[in-house]
Amino acid sequence: MIKELFTETTRTMKSSMIRELVASTRNIKGLISFAGGFPAPQTFPVETLSKLYAETIANESSFVLQYGASEGDPMLKEELLKWEGYDDITPDQLLITAGATNAIYYMSLALVEPGDVIICEAPSFLGSLVAFEALGADIQCVPLDQEGLDVVALQNKVEELQKAGKKIKYIYTIPDFHNPTGVTMSLKRRKELIEFALAARIPILEDNPYSRLRFRGEAVPTLFRIAHDEYANTDIVTEVVSFSKILGPGLRLAFVKGNKDLIERMCSWQQKVNIAPDNVSQRVTAHFLNRGYMDDHLKMCNDHYRPYLDKMLEATSKYLPPYIQYTKPEGGLFTWLWLPQTMSGDALFEQAKEYKVSFIPGSKFYPTNQEKFNSLRLNFSFSTFEQIEQGMKSLGTIMEEFKA
Ligand SMILES: Cc1ncc(COP(=O)(O)O)c(C=O)c1O
Repeated sequence: MIKELFTETTRTMKSSMIRELVASTRNIKGLISFAGGFPAPQTFPVETLSKLYAETIANESSFVLQYGASEGDPMLKEELLKWEGYDDITPDQLLITAGATNAIYYMSLALVEPGDVIICEAPSFLGSLVAFEALGADIQCVPLDQEGLDVVALQNKVEELQKAGKKIKYIYTIPDFHNPTGVTMSLKRRKELIEFALAARIPILEDNPYSRLRFRGEAVPTLFRIAHDEYANTDIVTEVVSFSKILGPGLRLAFVKGNKDLIERMCSWQQKVNIAPDNVSQRVTAHFLNRGYMDDHLKMCNDHYRPYLDKMLEATSKYLPPYIQYTKPEGGLFTWLWLPQTMSGDALFEQAKEYKVSFIPGSKFYPTNQEKFNSLRLNFSFSTFEQIEQGMKSLGTIMEEFKA
């Protein structure tokens, strides 16, 4: 009976296609999986967090076990602003949330009515796409290349949408070690994007879970940093930073910086949906930063991941046919393969099951009815070196068979 009462949105909401795909390979014994997106448990700061959790609960129980403020723990906010080096940003320009997923959802709840446009890179992070779809957003895609979001294509898209009388609410982008492609937006492209957004008066949502997972090369300043430093603007970019990939997704912790009025409205949504983020993980993270653990911890994470990325790139070049193009990221958790137009990642996925290898077909990272099929995403952080070697060898064989 209850099903009859479901709202239209609930009735038509898609379940996670990625979860279903992963479930379809669960019973394959000896499967080598490049499908996941989980951080490696070896990077979790177990000892330090155990100590800090015990101390925090023992010493600050009347604060941390109590309901917290909807805008977040003031001590964590202070530590975050110090960590990121913003001395002119005030706590009311900052909101702590239970993960980036919540922050992205609150921003969309604050801005998007059914039919309003959110512009995204294609492909993009599925978790955000399904949230946008559930809110009835009209998701419009812009391609990305080796330098990130194609700003010329963006300009054309905006012109076309404005001519059609569409309301564009914001541009959603993942500039660092993009999920799923691993691409990092160049500095030049970042500036072009900000200049365009300022001129067109379209806000940007910068989703940043991966920038601190940089294993080599020069860091590129975030869009928020560039807008702040070079354009004296803290309104055009709203930046969400997640602790999921650098401390542990189980903490459910992220923070978002941006326009004061927007942050205040997002906080109102948080109050309704969640009351407040977890007080214990907020205070523990504040102590983690305050005691200076973060730098060494990030170095450990990056030292851990670097050889796995190197192994994946080496095995890709050794075993995959020369007609496969792939991204060569300097961090993050993923690489991405472009297949020839005639080859489908979805068909390859089915074939790969027989070889006990899995990955996520690229089509899963596009909004409904805008799918492209000639790509796939590989995660390199969850397999052993031997599994990467064997898995990529098998993938090479499957591709040659497929092409034949
Ligand atoms: C681009 C992107 N945004 C957001 C998230 C979700 O982050 P959180 O665990 O903080 O909700 C992920 C997780 O994989 C991601 O890749």
